[in-house]
Amino acid sequence: MLIIFTRLAFSQEPSATTPDERGKIDLVPVGKEIYSQNCAICHENQSTSDIKSVLKIGPPLYGLLQKNPIRRTVFSNETLTETLTEISADENYIRTSLLDPTLHMATRKENGKIIAYPPGMPRFPLDGIEFKSIIAYLRTLNDPENRGPDELWVKAPKEDGKNAKFEIIIGQQTRIVRAEFANVSTRAIAVGNP
Ligand code: HEC
Repeated sequence: MLIIFTRLAFSQEPSATTPDERGKIDLVPVGKEIYSQNCAICHENQSTSDIKSVLKIGPPLYGLLQKNPIRRTVFSNETLTETLTEISADENYIRTSLLDPTLHMATRKENGKIIAYPPGMPRFPLDGIEFKSIIAYLRTLNDPENRGPDELWVKAPKEDGKNAKFEIIIGQQTRIVRAEFANVSTRAIAVGNP
């Protein structure tokens, strides 16, 4: 019985959230996993020139979180009247985007005009290691000169007194939302916790 158990334990696929022998995990692949499961459906992670389809409803996340924060033009709802304003795209901006997505609405330029993205972003109350991981991953989505480190090792959170595999917990349950969006010819299916 014990042998079978041991075999099973060893045959498990290594995952981004399994700490190494030092009890450490690399936050970059953890962040990538969070991105793939929660953000990829609406956000590109490639540079614009590599993007083949523009079906995603959110802005591309490539180049957003750079070593020296860039300025983002957003519609701000802070004053209850939508005003166009400039904001520094730093960690705080990402935190606000996740906790209060409609506070600042991302914009893009189309034929010289500034257009707001639609308000389709669900709330993601990421905290602690989950937030640090998505930040570590977003920092890698840059051209070499603006890029953050490829690896970021930290001590894994403890579970039951030992460093076991920890779970990434995001929001409550996931549900599927089907909606039609302007300028999108097909129906877009988005997953999230609105
Ligand atoms: C259902 C679609 C959807 C999902 C899922 C989603 N987003 Fe968004 N996101 C949007 C839309 C639409 C906007 C633009 C409107 C706004 O700013 O709220 C946006 C805006 C953002 C912005 C501001 C971007 C900028 O260019 O200024 C950030 C940062 C962001 N999202 C991060 C994330 C992360 C990280 C995740 C996953 C944890 C995620 N989003 C999941 C739709 C989504």
